[in-house]
Amino acid sequence: MTTNTIESVLNENRLFPPSPEFSQNAYIKSFEDYKQIYEKAKADPESFWAELAEKELHWFQKWEKVLDWQPPFAKWFVGGKINISYNCLDRHLTTWRKNKAALIWEGEPGDTRTLTYAQLHREVCQFANVLKQLGVHKGDRVGIYMPMIPESAIAMLACARIGAPHTVVFGGFSSEALKDRLNDAEAKLVITADGGFRKDKVVALKEQVDLAIADNGVPSVERVLVVQRTKEPVTMVEGRDYWWHELQKEASPNCPAEAMDSEDMLFILYTSGTTGKPKGVVHTTGGYNLYTHLTTKWIFDVKDDDVYWCTADVGWITGHSYIVYGPLSNGATTLMYEGVPRPSNPGCFWDVIEKYGVNIFYTAPTAIRAFMKMGDGLPNARNLSSLRLLGSVGEPINPEAWMWYHQVIGGEKCPIVDTWWQTETGGIMITPLPGATTTKPGSCTLPFPGIIADVVDLDGNPVNVNEGGYLVVKHPWPGMMRTVYKNPERFRNSYWEHIYPKDGQYFYFAGDGARRDEEGYFWVMGRVDDVINTSGHRLGTMEVESALVSHPAVAEAAVVGRPDEVKGEDIYAFVTLENNYSPSDELMKELKDHVAKEIGAIARPGTIHFTDVLPKTRSGKIMRRLLRNLAAGQEVAGDTSTLEDVGVLEKLRGG
Ligand code: PRX
Repeated sequence: MTTNTIESVLNENRLFPPSPEFSQNAYIKSFEDYKQIYEKAKADPESFWAELAEKELHWFQKWEKVLDWQPPFAKWFVGGKINISYNCLDRHLTTWRKNKAALIWEGEPGDTRTLTYAQLHREVCQFANVLKQLGVHKGDRVGIYMPMIPESAIAMLACARIGAPHTVVFGGFSSEALKDRLNDAEAKLVITADGGFRKDKVVALKEQVDLAIADNGVPSVERVLVVQRTKEPVTMVEGRDYWWHELQKEASPNCPAEAMDSEDMLFILYTSGTTGKPKGVVHTTGGYNLYTHLTTKWIFDVKDDDVYWCTADVGWITGHSYIVYGPLSNGATTLMYEGVPRPSNPGCFWDVIEKYGVNIFYTAPTAIRAFMKMGDGLPNARNLSSLRLLGSVGEPINPEAWMWYHQVIGGEKCPIVDTWWQTETGGIMITPLPGATTTKPGSCTLPFPGIIADVVDLDGNPVNVNEGGYLVVKHPWPGMMRTVYKNPERFRNSYWEHIYPKDGQYFYFAGDGARRDEEGYFWVMGRVDDVINTSGHRLGTMEVESALVSHPAVAEAAVVGRPDEVKGEDIYAFVTLENNYSPSDELMKELKDHVAKEIGAIARPGTIHFTDVLPKTRSGKIMRRLLRNLAAGQEVAGDTSTLEDVGVLEKLRGG
């Protein structure tokens, strides 16, 4: 599909200007306004951000310095005191929003809950006191491994309230993956649930936590807090494990928000890179609060009577920034849905939109393509007329899917914001502003004000119009990651040492390839490193390879992404076996299950390709480029002269 996408986006010339009705009521009303704001921010980024930080957020104490930039390390609003939980909750309580719905939640089985700002504040304060009572202090890391239930957001906000950085681990990750992350973060306490509902099945989360911490597997973990969700039996260890509801009901609802330093760590979120070990992306408080607040406001154009729904999981950055922090900081109504489309209810998203009158809907291209395949019948059978804005995130959206989203879901009246960003960027970086930007299907259009992005060659020189290059950001921004947890060197060499501008400037290298068209619009092509984007989930090829070689049958493994119509990319693994093993269907299944056990179901390879040999250079490096071609069923393109044994290609084709 990548090749098809590239071909079709090269020919894409349809234009969709914002409608006058939308623009009239939008925060940013015209392209001229965008341009003006953009240029102002570019000329003096520090004043731009400082003005907005003052206007949009509550500070206990104002900063002394807007930006301290010692490349590649940035500090924003240095000396400022702030608390993001205060900005998401307390400050709304003195306004009419006190009794407005902050969080609307629907569970997969159809149970529902709505929390007003006052109620959410009370729950968060109580839970913050529970954490304190269990010995969590400012600076202690807390692991969160939860289903999509309100308690996930409550837990995050409670951690933020007392200054204990959280590390949310997606509930689909296995106990092994959980263990690695909790160990790296040295989490003191883990918050989980007995289980969650996913695709009509119960997922036993507490059991995974038990497995991860068994035999002192995570020595730092002292306590486990368990939300009762599925009511399935779980083992509770006396003195270690506590029920959320029992402690919560006893806890005091008074818990003033801690005045955090602007640069205090807010959370760590693990994401995949080019090595086998995920990176602990560190985000801090003040800059992240401002960046997620402002991007939510201007990009989703959220108004007070809107119901806003982002379908991501809180275990990913999209859930952090655009289910929890960004919307709540704006006093918006954010909807959280536990379910995903499943055979028993493939149209559940459209039901939710109709039931709650969702106005703003933010989802991923992989979901859109899956819906497209199911046909127009499901969405057409629902009333989706409440929608006024649609968003897309996670991977390039192919023009066909964009058009379907526009016509069938948006009824040709909703602007689409195709938002490019990453775990590392904290918030959306390149995107249309819905009242201002003319969109082109397949392009994420132009940078957000304050973001200086470009497409360059390895020396940092801008490439020609429509020529492919590397996507970079040339100036620090408030939402950027600050470091890799406990590993500043990895931060430096992962993001700042690939592109070398001759004049000594530092460019942030995103790991994506892109081009810019005649109007400067960005067209993101996908990762240029060893990262696979499968169903919008980011995985390192090395991670999957490490999981495979940890199986006794596997001698060597090389993993690549194979273009897939719905998933974007599917995981394709070339595997050589140890001498005493031979290929079989059973072994194939066993290896797939093994990867799922080591990492999680999202990493299960679609294909295992047994082979006797892997194509290597004379220096022993696996030639992934060739493997990508082979996996995609394409002719092997480019130079093969460095290949140690050209006969390998024939063997692999035959395999
Ligand atoms: O390759 C880009 C792709 O997703 C990567 C970031 O993944 P992650 O950190 O998991 O965050 C996903 C949600 C923000 C990027 O390097 N990506 C994300 N959004 C887009 C995209 N590619 C093209 N267009 C997008 N809108």
